[in-house]
Amino acid sequence: MDTASLIIHFHVILVLLICCNTLSNLAMAVNDSSSGGPTNFSTAILIRVAQSGEGNFKKIQDAIDAVPSNNSELYFIWVKPGTYREKIVVPADKPFITLSGTEASNTIITSSDGGDITDSPTLTVLASDFVARYLTIQNLFGTSDKAVALKVKGDKVAFYGCRIQSYQDTLLDDAGRHYYSNCYIEGAVDFIFGSGASLYERCHIHSVAAGAITAQGRETSLENTGFTFLGCKITGTGGNTALGRPWGSYSRVVFAYTYMSSIIQPEGWNDWGESTKQSTAYYGEYKCYGPGANRSKRVGWSRSLSNEEAAPFLTKNMIGGRSWLRPAPTQFKRSSSTNIVTPTGEH
Ligand SMILES: *[C@@H]1O[C@H](CO)[C@@H](O)[C@H](O)[C@H]1NC(C)=O
Ligand SMILES: *[C@@H]1O[C@H](CO)[C@@H](O)[C@H](O)[C@H]1NC(C)=O
Ligand SMILES: *[C@@H]1O[C@H](CO)[C@@H](O)[C@H](O)[C@H]1NC(C)=O
Ligand SMILES: *[C@@H]1O[C@H](CO)[C@@H](O)[C@H](O)[C@H]1NC(C)=O
Repeated sequence: MDTASLIIHFHVILVLLICCNTLSNLAMAVNDSSSGGPTNFSTAILIRVAQSGEGNFKKIQDAIDAVPSNNSELYFIWVKPGTYREKIVVPADKPFITLSGTEASNTIITSSDGGDITDSPTLTVLASDFVARYLTIQNLFGTSDKAVALKVKGDKVAFYGCRIQSYQDTLLDDAGRHYYSNCYIEGAVDFIFGSGASLYERCHIHSVAAGAITAQGRETSLENTGFTFLGCKITGTGGNTALGRPWGSYSRVVFAYTYMSSIIQPEGWNDWGESTKQSTAYYGEYKCYGPGANRSKRVGWSRSLSNEEAAPFLTKNMIGGRSWLRPAPTQFKRSSSTNIVTPTGEH
């Protein structure tokens, strides 16, 4: 397929996506109020974090701690540029928080902890309806052991324009429905892993050494989880990188309309030494391109998807439609909560 027809196909897909999303919006809007969440999605309570002292807090965790339990309003935590040396947890009882920088390149959350996938994450999201925008989330532990930069366990969680960096086990996409848009994700070994149902759209996946990009954890054929990479780009150094290997027996991963550089090994996929998983894992490719996308030497148990087979993975249906993806709030107000400190010098 030449570039022009690829672009046309891509546009058709986008139009389809927009139509489907509009329909699912209509279908879901009727029952939004039954969820107990905010009723006004255009207005958020603003909390500012700045290391200079000009915000409400100097640390991001302090801002999250200030959000009341079971909050029924949107909270928008605006993080000024800086390098924040913190390990952050967004607890399960604090939904509807947006954590936002202005540019990922200058708003960096960093730590250096390895060895354990539960304790090492720099940012752990247990809450539902969380959004992160324009942040770098990194774990600088290095190459010697597991070191998670980001763990996502809440349902209905979205990341826009974030950079997520580590080496082994960078992104624990643990559970729930997730959307990653225009993110940069870097690592080497199993660096996007877990049992989430996730759509990665227009993301840049960068592999820094031989290894596997994904290790999706779906355990049974009934589990509605899996990772879809749509319109992404895979680059790297080192080479001999697999697209995935099955952490769960029914591991499910699809790459569609994705550029693959020559770092992708010709075999493409790996059964992790258990040949029984070849018949249960679901590994598909659809209209990918670039030197790493040549399927002539792919393992026989991976799939080149037909249009019909690919269709379910090319929409947001697997992550629950657009019913929960929300636009950024446009109006901001201050909190009346006594938990939110007033910056020094402001009265
Ligand atoms: C809204 O939710 C209620 C309770 O969950 C359910 O009975 C009702 O059928 C839903 N209405 C629509 C239009 O989905
Ligand atoms: C949301 O709240 C703002 C004021 O905070 C108000 O101007 C706006 O009309 C509200 N929107 C809806 C849909 O209620
Ligand atoms: C928040 O909601 C949970 C579940 O409904 C409840 O167990 C908890 O006590 C609530 N917390 C507060 C502070 O109201
Ligand atoms: C794919 O690889 C095979 C074998 O290496 C080669 O013969 C073929 O030309 C390649 N196809 C494309 C489209 O590059």
